[in-house]
Amino acid sequence: QWPAPDPRPSFHFAPERNWMNDPNGLVFFEGEYHLFYQYNPHGDRWGHMSWGHAVSRDLLSWEHLPIAIPETEVMAFSGSAVIDWKNTSGFGRNGKPPMVAIYTGFDPVTKNQSQFVAYSTDRGRTFSRHGKVLDIGSAEFRDPKVFWHAPTQRWVMVVVKASEKKAAFYSSRDLKQWQHESDFGPTASSTSVNWECPDLFELPVANGKPGEKRWVLAVSQGDKGPDNGSGGQYFVGAFDGKAFTLEPGWEDTPHWQDLGADFYASQSWSEVPDGRRIWIGWATDLRYAHAIPTTPARGLMTLPRTLTLRREGADWRLAQAPVRELESRRGALTQLEDLTLGETPVPLKLGESLDMQLAIDPQLASQVALSLTDAQGYTLLIGYTPATREVFIDRTRAGPHVHDAFPDRNIAALPPGDGPITLRLVVDRSIVELFAADGTRVITDRFFRGGGALSWSAHALGGRARIQSLRAWPIEPAVLPGR
Ligand code: FRU
Repeated sequence: QWPAPDPRPSFHFAPERNWMNDPNGLVFFEGEYHLFYQYNPHGDRWGHMSWGHAVSRDLLSWEHLPIAIPETEVMAFSGSAVIDWKNTSGFGRNGKPPMVAIYTGFDPVTKNQSQFVAYSTDRGRTFSRHGKVLDIGSAEFRDPKVFWHAPTQRWVMVVVKASEKKAAFYSSRDLKQWQHESDFGPTASSTSVNWECPDLFELPVANGKPGEKRWVLAVSQGDKGPDNGSGGQYFVGAFDGKAFTLEPGWEDTPHWQDLGADFYASQSWSEVPDGRRIWIGWATDLRYAHAIPTTPARGLMTLPRTLTLRREGADWRLAQAPVRELESRRGALTQLEDLTLGETPVPLKLGESLDMQLAIDPQLASQVALSLTDAQGYTLLIGYTPATREVFIDRTRAGPHVHDAFPDRNIAALPPGDGPITLRLVVDRSIVELFAADGTRVITDRFFRGGGALSWSAHALGGRARIQSLRAWPIEPAVLPGR
């Protein structure tokens, strides 16, 4: 298991051992959420990319399964999976729909990237290779996301032309023959080197008219994200099965999926039975992904998050919330009301894996912070600055040196408002996820302690501050649901 200073999180997904990057092939089928992922079966550095595999019934407890798609003459890069209900591909057996994986095959000799298909007729337990379905002779053509578009009765693939900073749209009747329909991008806001791991889905507008929906195109960007690290943007608009068009008046400034350092390659599940759109990200930054001090597993996923869309003035915001399944894993509630804080830290008896709701008094002038301190005095700060209406996570002194790009302070400016500042905070030993302003501002950061247990306290940074209420629940250890 992981060494003492870097305990493996208890309800976030990590492989049993070795290197993991992007989530792939997210699909729900016959009671199971499938999580495939970029995996190196041979070591804790990127290489030999294959699709690792796990399944869950609640998105929190995962059962590890054997490798689903191994490296062959090509590496199996990122991609997606669908259930072919109408058996358009002909891969189905005995009247059962096949699970079809569409992924990028990377040829390490020629560097060519092209799209491949494999399928399973046994609930994703084993895959047969169909082979290459789309090749444009490019070394920068990857990460196909495929879904069924009912209005046009076609499969749609959105895939990146990575270095051109374009998302390309293709359509197909059978998942094998693909026709190019259109390209989107680049946009003024996308200054990164590459676009990667696109996703495209329709979302309800949470504060819109009943039934109002919009399409969201999400793209990960290799660098120059918030804090100059890696990150992802999203675009809001319309999709007619052939082309994505931006919402009229769309402000072409970066709309970051997450304002922390550690959210990349996000992908959403298809076929979720109650219609929720749920996504997950790889919790790291590309600059230091290889330096994460964990062994024998290097790589962690964020919490799965439910998505909606919100209008904010003339602008649009993606809103994220931890999946509601987390609430059923809550243990005994700790509740504190009207906590007036000065500069002397008030200890809080809370654990290392928890779900918390906070309401902070917006009136009192001083900065308020929760701190998470280890036995060596390393401290992670999570707080709110009234003067600038910003929430922050500060890990500049959270642990020993991981990498030069690692220590940072991530901030999220909140929209104007007059009520208390309500925050949701999920902490799991070495990852912190902060949701503010109805989930429209999210900060995800890893942290690595120096040693010993973590202890919580709260204080004001200069002057006084007041936490109106703090409700925290330990998250109980996973019990694998019966099969
Ligand atoms: C993103 C990425 C993808 C690619 C995969 C390879 O992290 O570079 O674009 O398919 O990783 O592992």
